[in-house]
Amino acid sequence: MNFSGKDIIAIEDFSKEEIVYILNKVDEIKEKKNILNGKLMASLFFEPSTRTRLSFEAAMKKLGGHVIGFSDWKDSSVMKGEDLIDTIKVVDGYADVIVIRHPQEGSAKIAAEVANNPVINGGDGTNQHPTQTFLDLYTILKTKGTLENLNIGFLGDLKYGRTVHSLTYALKDFNTKMFFISPESLKMPTELINKIKKYSECYECTDIFDVVDKLDILYATRIQKERFMFEDDFKRVQGTYKLDEEFLKKARKDIKIMHPLPRVGEIKHELDFSENAIYFQQAHNGVPVRMALLSLVLGKA
Ligand code: CP
Repeated sequence: MNFSGKDIIAIEDFSKEEIVYILNKVDEIKEKKNILNGKLMASLFFEPSTRTRLSFEAAMKKLGGHVIGFSDWKDSSVMKGEDLIDTIKVVDGYADVIVIRHPQEGSAKIAAEVANNPVINGGDGTNQHPTQTFLDLYTILKTKGTLENLNIGFLGDLKYGRTVHSLTYALKDFNTKMFFISPESLKMPTELINKIKKYSECYECTDIFDVVDKLDILYATRIQKERFMFEDDFKRVQGTYKLDEEFLKKARKDIKIMHPLPRVGEIKHELDFSENAIYFQQAHNGVPVRMALLSLVLGKA
């Protein structure tokens, strides 16, 4: 398989076979050094980020590459009124690959259409976060030894949570039984769940304790305050879920708890020391997985 020059915009652009191939490349590529010597990555973050931005930078540097970019659009000429298309066309002439995070759904696709070099979506609004999906799948594979036939719960903000949107779309091809647990106002988008239901058994509920004993993995998410138009709507659902030791007592002994992070209270720190908690391992997997993705799209894998 050849991914040289390929954009990474949405997880649906990758077949199951391609996803498995890429995941199988990660352990080989993470041992490499200097294969991206002389390559430059532009990191354009129009929204805040800790994990995505820094793990992409770490990945590039570990492979001998270099990084330019900004982490706050107010430091760019967007402040003077420059639009996204012009920004991308200019940066495309400076760098070999562009990683972009932007609040607008579809922005990464627009960037890919005007750039000659590969564009990687680091999260476009509430839409997609495909590289997070690759690291989530890698984490599941490493922890459970397989991606097939798992019971996975998705908890929290399923309406705005782009990591859940991308991950569920990928998992539908792995015979996953999916449990969607959210407040009524934050359910999975109808269009997406209807697509997934064609391939996977799906259950929706509001109470985690209705399904906790069925889950191999619980993928918790933050309720995303910044996506709400009215603060009162956020306050109504704020703090709905709190995973603590009491929760763990009711869960399967080998349940694994994942979270894309950041968390804002939905997982108590008391769980961090449990073998069931794998969210920091998951965040750390961002570096090797992004090393593999960068090497592949730059034709150096
Ligand atoms: N998981 C994730 O996307 O984290 P950041 O927002 O910190 O990049």
